[in-house]
Amino acid sequence: MTNVFGSPHKGSGPSHEQVVFCQDEASGLRAIIAIYSTALGPSLGGTRFYPYGSEDEALTDVLNLSRAMAYKNALAGLDLGGGKAVIIGDPELDKSEALLRAYGRFVQSLNGRYYTACDVGTYSEDMDVIARESTYVTGRTVAHGGAGDSSVLTAYGVFQGMRAAAQALWGSPTLRGRRVGIEGVGKVGHRLVEHLREDGAEVVICDVSEAAVDRVRRLHPEVEVVADGDALVKTDLDVYSPCALGGSLNDETVPLLRARIVCGGANNQLAHPGVEKRLADRGILYAPDYVVNAGGVIQVADEIEGFSFERAKAKATQIFDTTARIFALAAEEGVPPAVAADRLAERRMTAVGRLRGIFLNG
Ligand SMILES: NC(=O)c1ccc[n+]([C@@H]2O[C@H](COP(=O)([O-])OP(=O)(O)OC[C@H]3O[C@@H](n4cnc5c(N)ncnc54)[C@H](O)[C@@H]3O)[C@@H](O)[C@H]2O)c1
Repeated sequence: MTNVFGSPHKGSGPSHEQVVFCQDEASGLRAIIAIYSTALGPSLGGTRFYPYGSEDEALTDVLNLSRAMAYKNALAGLDLGGGKAVIIGDPELDKSEALLRAYGRFVQSLNGRYYTACDVGTYSEDMDVIARESTYVTGRTVAHGGAGDSSVLTAYGVFQGMRAAAQALWGSPTLRGRRVGIEGVGKVGHRLVEHLREDGAEVVICDVSEAAVDRVRRLHPEVEVVADGDALVKTDLDVYSPCALGGSLNDETVPLLRARIVCGGANNQLAHPGVEKRLADRGILYAPDYVVNAGGVIQVADEIEGFSFERAKAKATQIFDTTARIFALAAEEGVPPAVAADRLAERRMTAVGRLRGIFLNG
């Protein structure tokens, strides 16, 4: 059974502030909203609609995801804390107007301590329905003032992180003439191909979906295709970019990797703690996933102010500087970049969160 109060957490950061179980029997809603930290402001993170095998599995997932959002939002420079929600059920079968609106009322009941957005199993159209009951909703459709597809700035941010890694390793940010392997050319991966080709990189891809590969090949017949992820890690690459699912960097793949840089959009690329050290020991520069894939959250967070693509893009451009700072701190403190990133996030949460101690009247 998951222990909420003593849930394991990264580094020396705090544990979860609040975990809310929400139930509406008539609509079938069973949701958990987890707020890890509001040190930097209201918590923000998406709602995952997923057929979890058990309540415990759902709870473990939401605790991990909400903590990760706190770190991501902190390093994205947002005035937002970390939270996340899960709805237990099959989105294909169980999603209904009543269920989403019931969920919206629970989000509203938190009075702005938690902002929701899309995640696996939820879409902008769902956010519009939730927003009929709550003002604390982002990731809405363009018709409702939303930012639209967040993969646009996610891919752009990953490209900025990759440029920072190139700068750190080769002394110049360009990827021109470098060979970049992308695992997964879905929403994020195929947009990353565009940035890389524009910059003059050679691109190698793989995807389990033939349609996804075909889409890239139609626009870029010069892009090389390999059979699968296993083949890609063994390919002669300068950069390896996981843009499919989590766990690509593990005890099997790390020893085989031929790339000098790892930088991609996928969440949770490190299969378990310790992989970051194995990468560092092999001299592979790892750009931490949650730092370089923050473009999407930057995009939806901008909606809170009234969406401006240019403003959001300018913020996503800063991923270059943040990634460079992490590499510098890693070198200075003699730790892998993933550890440096966590430290930097924790320092911002502590330094800025502490300011709430200065009393303001009202
Ligand atoms: N979309 C965003 O804004 C965003 C933001 C932050 C992080 N991410 C993360 O980036 C990753 C990609 O997201 P997306 O929105 O592009 O999703 P997506 O579903 O559009 O694309 C994922 C692609 O990976 C492919 N794939 C799945 N398993 C594979 C495997 N074993 N080998 C090769 N290809 C495989 C799929 O066929 C698909 O084409 C996910 O991990 C997601 O959590 C996305």
